[in-house]
Amino acid sequence: MITLRPETIHTDRLTLLPLQVEHAEEMATVLSDPGLHTFIGGTPDTAQALRARYERWVAGSPDPAESWCNWAIQLRTAACLTGTVQATVTADERAATAEIAWVVGSPWQRRGIATEAARGLVTWLQSNPVDTVIAHIHPDHKASAAVATAAGLTPTGQWHDGEIRWRLAVR
Ligand SMILES: CC(C)(COP(=O)(O)OP(=O)(O)OC[C@H]1O[C@@H](n2cnc3c(N)ncnc32)[C@H](O)[C@@H]1OP(=O)(O)O)[C@@H](O)C(=O)NCCC(=O)NCCS
Repeated sequence: MITLRPETIHTDRLTLLPLQVEHAEEMATVLSDPGLHTFIGGTPDTAQALRARYERWVAGSPDPAESWCNWAIQLRTAACLTGTVQATVTADERAATAEIAWVVGSPWQRRGIATEAARGLVTWLQSNPVDTVIAHIHPDHKASAAVATAAGLTPTGQWHDGEIRWRLAVR
């Protein structure tokens, strides 16, 4: 059984920073558009609620078979945060599966940030003992499907809570 901890990941334009509670205030502004929740449900968190959420995430999963890995996406030239990526890694004696997801603040969208961050994340997962990468994507969510495709995932025929399961076999 493995436990993964997020490490700093560098891509061409981005630094994926292991998420810290101190990121909550800036992220609350980055993620303040209710439109971000069209496909994933919910509403934007206040800075206070996001801080509480990040405290839980940083404390880690109470289940030793599950690792919660979260990153803030920093665009280096602008020296600011633009979104988050995450991987929830579930392992047993035989295999480890990482479920990944991404969100980019509305002002930063359509610049390839999610694509670059997701590729960086998948490359990092491939260098760790992860066997399968999956994502769950609403069938109408074209942007997220494009991100998953660019990161090497393909849609399966499986549905999960109204979303399609995408998958990449790493090994
Ligand atoms: C999905 C999301 C992360 C994409 O972020 P992004 O940084 O704008 O994505 P990119 O710039 O890397 O674009 C990826 C692709 O989606 C396309 N795209 C981006 N926004 C789009 C939109 N609103 N409508 C249609 N296509 C869109 C881009 O053209 C690009 O396609 P291409 O590779 O064929 O050129 C962003 O829309 C988001 O945060 N949405 C809300 C949260 C969410 O739903 N997350 C998904 C959970 S799995």
